[in-house]
Amino acid sequence: MRLGVLTSGGDCAGLNAVLRAVVHRAIEGYGWEVVGIEQGTRGLMERPPRAREMGLDIFDGTLMRQGGTILGTTNKGDPFAYPMADGTLKDRSEEVIEGLRLLRVDALIGIGGDGSQAILRRLAQQGGFGLVTIPKTIDNDVAETEFAVGYDTAVSVATEALDRLQPTAASHNRVMILEVMGRDAGHIALVSGIAGGADVILIPEIPWNMGCIARRIEQVRGQGRNFALVVVAEAIKTEEGETVIQSAPGEKQRYGGVGHYIGERIAEETGAEVRVTVLGHIQRGGTPSARDRLIAAAFGVHAVDLVAEGKFDRMVAWRARQVIDVPIADAISRPHLVDPDGPVARTARGLGICLGDR
Ligand code: F6P
Repeated sequence: MRLGVLTSGGDCAGLNAVLRAVVHRAIEGYGWEVVGIEQGTRGLMERPPRAREMGLDIFDGTLMRQGGTILGTTNKGDPFAYPMADGTLKDRSEEVIEGLRLLRVDALIGIGGDGSQAILRRLAQQGGFGLVTIPKTIDNDVAETEFAVGYDTAVSVATEALDRLQPTAASHNRVMILEVMGRDAGHIALVSGIAGGADVILIPEIPWNMGCIARRIEQVRGQGRNFALVVVAEAIKTEEGETVIQSAPGEKQRYGGVGHYIGERIAEETGAEVRVTVLGHIQRGGTPSARDRLIAAAFGVHAVDLVAEGKFDRMVAWRARQVIDVPIADAISRPHLVDPDGPVARTARGLGICLGDR
């Protein structure tokens, strides 16, 4: 068996820990060869395909602690509609499949979010190769799994940011806004907001109104507190129902900046002095948390075992303290969003946190 492995989509902490687990299990458990594909599917379009042999010697004891991915990755360039230099879109899927053949890959483990997994699944069906996927994304929006690799670290980073913002907010009597990532899901905002003592948390799953936010800030003042912390998920909409994006023309839509909009609105409504922090890619970098390392290890080992059993078209998943596997089709059929009436949102409301709607 010659096993291919690639990372795809936006990077996050814990990817190298997954690679460590995959390579160890494949080589020590089964005696296979492992080839690491560089730059995701884009590396498979190059000739020769961009790849490296992965042996146990690449693990010097530091890799699983490192953020990023040693293989590199890409979050643009769908091979079925690849943007060409002349502005056209080209189907380059056969080149990617051919790249895998040139590398003599028998089966592939793809580490990615829902978008990457959907692309890899299409490629596997078209190319007739066995595929197992491992969910990773700081957004935690992949369905059928409680956790994706990278999410826990991102929540820790956002919580630490609130820990650092609180004393300066209190020293200056300010309202501090923290804008966090999460594309279309509010998991990072909600969980870090609870852990970091936010007074207001705004997430895309719950429509917000300024009256509710202003009331909560006044209430906090009335309780004798001179500062407030507000966490804003990057994908919430403005009062006019628009998303705030940063992308340059022709670029993929990229959120960023809605925290400034909310900050201005809060200053207008409450007269508070406001400062805004946009946390950005800091949430994706750095040393993975212990939980992310554990999930990465468990996912990597289970994914290799699935390949050994010939169980393909499956995604590994974490549910009720167990590693299981589910059809990739189910995992990509819908996003895993925050349930506005679920236990985490109820906990926030129980703490008096304003979620923007009441
Ligand atoms: O999906 C992961 C994510 O970090 C989102 O939270 C964020 O909106 C996006 O990727 C940023 O993408 P890029 O790395 O292209 O700026």
